[in-house]
Amino acid sequence: MDQATQLRNIIKNQAPAARPTARVITVTSGKGGVGKSSLSVNLAIQLRKMGQRVVIMDADFGLANVEVMLGIRPKYNLADLIFRGKELNEIITSGPEGIGFISGGSGIQELTKLTKDQIMYLTRSLCELDEYVDVIIIDTGAGIADSVLEFVAASSEVLLVVTPEPTSITDAYALLKTLDKKADFLADNTVIKMVSNRVGTLQEGRELFDKLSVVVNKFLNIKLDFLGAIPQDASLSKAVIQQKPVMIGYPNSQAARSIYELAVMLNDNTVVEQRDKKGITVLFSNLIRAKFANKNRGD
Ligand SMILES: Nc1ncnc2c1ncn2[C@@H]1O[C@H](COP(=O)(O)OP(=O)(O)OP(=O)(O)O)[C@@H](O)[C@H]1O
Ligand SMILES: [Mg+2]
Repeated sequence: MDQATQLRNIIKNQAPAARPTARVITVTSGKGGVGKSSLSVNLAIQLRKMGQRVVIMDADFGLANVEVMLGIRPKYNLADLIFRGKELNEIITSGPEGIGFISGGSGIQELTKLTKDQIMYLTRSLCELDEYVDVIIIDTGAGIADSVLEFVAASSEVLLVVTPEPTSITDAYALLKTLDKKADFLADNTVIKMVSNRVGTLQEGRELFDKLSVVVNKFLNIKLDFLGAIPQDASLSKAVIQQKPVMIGYPNSQAARSIYELAVMLNDNTVVEQRDKKGITVLFSNLIRAKFANKNRGD
């Protein structure tokens, strides 16, 4: 039995249908530097203010984006849990307003190297996380790298961040096109919601969505929804420099107001039941399965 099948069996045994699962929101983009980490952090804080228990997971292997924005330094990461026996509560660092933060570290790249015992331990911890929180926001890297696409394909709810820059739009389209061709991506299992960032007016945000969705509808088998827009706002860049998220440092700014609106929208449209894709435990199972399939195909 390969490890992916083992994991599936373990999940079946450990996570019967009635078990609570967290809502997982994966934040991604085609082009880098368009505002994914800013959105992840501020949305997490807003959802927390609305009474939800929220954890951000940093799945970006590059710069420690979220850590810098929150001004925190986690002691351990997901790899410490998987390979060095750390407990779930040891790898969750507490951030502003009581949000939790998990750094993926190298843990996500190394998912294909797990032994049966490590898979069981990871699954048990993820089930615990599913029970313990209401929302998990996953901040991914940008672009069509396998690691990002696998995450998106394994997720049931994705926020795609796009800015009015022409390359941001073409890169977002390239990401969706590559996703559309991926063998393990089932369009019916994933809701993709676009967020227009750094726009002049909310109307411009809507137009940006119309522009992208016209080509997506025409050429791809993917449905793109519109979640909302965030204006260009200097308080967002100031917040990054001050390591104080805009929802806390500048709660009355235009950016904070629109992120509040996005959180309200997200709370209003709870994801419809999606077969086989619920919670963080199942997401990781999908992810591991995809990683094994890629490995066996030799990519
Ligand atoms: N609406 C906005 N108005 C002004 N500045 C913004 C806005 N959104 C993001 N920024 C700025 O853009 C920069 C990049 O944002 P951020 O780090 O969130 O992007 P990212 O997509 O996570 O980048 P990466 O791909 O490198 O992870 C930051 O300095 C941030 O302050
Ligand atoms: Mg980032």
